[in-house]
Amino acid sequence: MPESIIIDTDPGIDDFMAILFALKSPELDVLALTTVFGNHYVEITTRNALRLLELAGRDEIPVARGAHAPLVREYREPPTFVHGMDGLGDAGLTGEPDSEAAHTRAAQFIVEAVMSRPGEITLVPIGPLTNIAMALKLEPRLVQATKRVVLMGGAAFAPGNVSPVAEANIFNDPEAAALVLSADWEVVMVGLDVTTRIDMSRQYIDALSATRAPYAELVARIVPHYQAFHARVYHNDGALHTHDPAAIAYLIRPNLFQTAPYRVRVGTSGVSTGQIVVDREHKWYDGVATAICADVDAGGILELYRERITR
Ligand code: RIB
Ligand code: CA
Repeated sequence: MPESIIIDTDPGIDDFMAILFALKSPELDVLALTTVFGNHYVEITTRNALRLLELAGRDEIPVARGAHAPLVREYREPPTFVHGMDGLGDAGLTGEPDSEAAHTRAAQFIVEAVMSRPGEITLVPIGPLTNIAMALKLEPRLVQATKRVVLMGGAAFAPGNVSPVAEANIFNDPEAAALVLSADWEVVMVGLDVTTRIDMSRQYIDALSATRAPYAELVARIVPHYQAFHARVYHNDGALHTHDPAAIAYLIRPNLFQTAPYRVRVGTSGVSTGQIVVDREHKWYDGVATAICADVDAGGILELYRERITR
């Protein structure tokens, strides 16, 4: 029986790569995409989500538009230096889909979907956690009714990517992350501790493209801008950190990861804004522990991604 999932996303190049991965994996049933600000304004991430599903031949999947800003902070300008002016690598992929096709109010959509099938739906946030936090505020029983939450975000023991201690999704709405990560539900955190160790080289991407499989060609078309960013910032040959696809990989092959349970809190001020504060001694915080992904079989993830995206 496939696991029913709702992907909460800010597409975004690696979001695009992750969603195609999920669509090609029979272990998963993608019920809907809910969109959020982050890699771009929510109007753009919503347009990109609709366009992505059109390109993937899956525009029967509903898209619910979500938050345009964090719970209590202002949204800064989008990181176009990472994901391009159009949010999808300026690769000429963004048409003008019918943006009316997007339901509104992602939080309401999440609540209605999960409460209609208690215990059966997994939430997969791969952007800022604003929609998830808003859904929790709307319906606190979501904690019991959600099967589990598998999120891309955070850095438990690894350095941050937007500050020495903060990862982008958590940094973009630390108050929302604090709510989500302190609620008593099952959360798996697929963070920079593992995603920065899963590198897609240029050769790997070229090999995907050489198969001429439709989804692989979409990936190869969308990544050049992201490769250039990685080459500039990480001084590698443009090898990509596989952030969002790693959350999908966890759903499909959890045995490729090693997790450890820790209670965590989220920094919301000063230099610790967006930091995942880990109770390493298991004595300071109460509540359900978060399963932190601490190690990964990176080669296994890359092989799994290749096998699926070239189908
Ligand atoms: O830090 C990486 C995360 O931030 C990914 O989800 C990427 O898409 C951006 O949203
Ligand atoms: Ca993302």
